[in-house]
Amino acid sequence: MKGIILAGGAGSRLYPLTLVASKQLQPVYDKPMVYYPLTTLIEGGIRDLCLISTPHDLPRFKQMLGDGSRFGISIEYREQPKPQGIAQAFLIAESFMGRDNIALILGDNIFYGSDVFYRKIAEFKNGAMIFGYHVNDPERYGVVEFDGEGRAISIEEKPKHPKSDYAVPGLYLYDNNAVAIAKSLKPSARGELEISDLNVAYLKRRQLHVHRLSRGFAWLDAGTSSSLHDASAYVQAIEKRAGIKIGCPEEAAFRAGFLKLTQLEELTGRMPNCEYRAYLNEVVAEAKRLEKNL
Ligand code: G1P
Repeated sequence: MKGIILAGGAGSRLYPLTLVASKQLQPVYDKPMVYYPLTTLIEGGIRDLCLISTPHDLPRFKQMLGDGSRFGISIEYREQPKPQGIAQAFLIAESFMGRDNIALILGDNIFYGSDVFYRKIAEFKNGAMIFGYHVNDPERYGVVEFDGEGRAISIEEKPKHPKSDYAVPGLYLYDNNAVAIAKSLKPSARGELEISDLNVAYLKRRQLHVHRLSRGFAWLDAGTSSSLHDASAYVQAIEKRAGIKIGCPEEAAFRAGFLKLTQLEELTGRMPNCEYRAYLNEVVAEAKRLEKNL
């Protein structure tokens, strides 16, 4: 399975923060926002990635992440000239996808909590798999409704009167038919190819699987000033308490086996003296201790 990070959009809800740099380049506590979805895909075992952004911001993402080799992955870049919807990602990245299945993640979605994505990505064969997460403001999101047996029966984009409290987070797994379906979608009233319409198309084909995320799982989006602040506070609280980092792609790449210990050590050695480097030094030291004990 390949991965797409969609980091486009005007970022208008974060104005004036986004006057110079896009939303996904903004800090969430101690890292750029895009590090978090990048880490989620790496933790999911994905090493072929494509990042989509605006013509204005794409050079900055390239500067930040390069060709991905320092994380032991490959990153290609594609432009989304205008924000015309999440499902447009499949039209833009068609040549990247080839015949593969795809995991699409939104550049402002932060996940923390379990290996559920790793398992779902590993098990995924065909159709589509999306997730449901209980929130107190479902009207801000795509909303999925379930029948008495827990099967998804409807999906609506930002409904005024949500039929459930289950929002659909911005991580979606699709088979290769997503490209053809995206091509058949018509723009919504707001002029976008809606990801919810793509999900409805899979639902109609009876090929949509919805996995409800458990309570212990954290999903944050950082699309407004307030949710951006909340996300930073959350990451800080966990990192301070547990002494671990959320959204550290170098560490995730090492744990996924994409980087060898010597590569992680060398990479860390090239970082300026900072807390991030000190943390990765600790990861290296711990791995060495474990190696010795084997
Ligand atoms: C988008 C999707 C929505 C989804 C949300 C997750 O909304 O359209 O279905 O629930 O991402 O973050 P947007 O961020 O464009 O408002």
